[in-house]
Amino acid sequence: MKAVVVKPPGAGVWIKEVQDPGDPQGRVRIRTLETGICGTDREIVNGRRLTTSPPPGREELILGHEAIGVVEEGDGIFREGDLVMPVNRRPCGKCLNCKAGRPDYCETGQFVQAGANSLDGFMREYWNDEPKYLVKVPPAVREFAILAQPLADVEKSVEEILTVQGRLIWNCEDGTLSCRKALVIGTGTTGLLFALLLKTEGMEVWVSNRREPREWEAKVFQEVGLNFLNSSKGYGGESFDLIVEASGSTAAVVGEALSSLRRNGVLGLFSFPREESFSLDHRGVQTFVMRANAIVGLVNGQKPHFQRAMVHLSAWNSIWPNAVRSMITKVVSVRDEGEVIRVLREKVRGEIKVKIDWT
Ligand code: BGC
Ligand code: ZN
Ligand code: ZN
Repeated sequence: MKAVVVKPPGAGVWIKEVQDPGDPQGRVRIRTLETGICGTDREIVNGRRLTTSPPPGREELILGHEAIGVVEEGDGIFREGDLVMPVNRRPCGKCLNCKAGRPDYCETGQFVQAGANSLDGFMREYWNDEPKYLVKVPPAVREFAILAQPLADVEKSVEEILTVQGRLIWNCEDGTLSCRKALVIGTGTTGLLFALLLKTEGMEVWVSNRREPREWEAKVFQEVGLNFLNSSKGYGGESFDLIVEASGSTAAVVGEALSSLRRNGVLGLFSFPREESFSLDHRGVQTFVMRANAIVGLVNGQKPHFQRAMVHLSAWNSIWPNAVRSMITKVVSVRDEGEVIRVLREKVRGEIKVKIDWT
């Protein structure tokens, strides 16, 4: 079958015929309908994600961790014709968190990730899977349901932030989070999904970028009720109860964000910065302690988060239809191989989510 392959940790990407890798124990046969591309894929393709590895005993890895497929051979739970999305990170088989279905908190570090760490991904015509790693896709949101994988990461992140803030009274007098101010740094797929979800949680949400918003972005911000901040000159004296770093730019951003964090505030680190650093001198540490701040790393959503993501996409389709739709900025046919390679190599200005159509 046709597949998109990489040779980690080296750079490069190829579209070629491969043998069916015979996925271990996969009882459900799925035909791929579409796959999404994210920053992780491009880092792998460009040889920048050093932790990437092929499956044991192989040199090539099939890329792709965002996918929607249709079941061709079911198992009772999943029937022929069902639309499904796979969970991308899978357990190490050893630690308690993995045994409880939460490899996002794997303790051995030996979890596998489709299309990234020792497990073939979904950029191929077919794959086989176990029902426990599959989530049903509501046909009504099919057009943008590919967002459910990155949204699962975001759902897990917000759950984690709320768990951390369970240490104090974070609700406001009206019982919601309406008096809490959140800043999301970055307006890519992840940043926008964080903004939508935090807004759903009832917070006052600000999003920032180092430039003015594009026309379509301004429309989305207005539709959802988001405030925009051009951070090229700092955060304008604003302070926040929650700051989420989702820009994928530099580590220096983390240091800038810390100084805008309110007492009891949380800084959530989501993206993988490419360069630079931040440091805290003794004054910075003292302030951090005195303000009872928390920094938390946010990685990988699991099955409960994929399920919640499907529900939220369905709800947002009714209340913010323009926002979810405008996040799919390009669809490339897998037959257009040159274009597939190009979109995998680089992000074009203004692009949010690019999908590869396998039909
Ligand atoms: C994926 C996450 C994954 C992370 C780290 C992201 O692109 O969406 O699920 O855990 O990369 O590899
Ligand atoms: Zn991703
Ligand atoms: Zn584990």
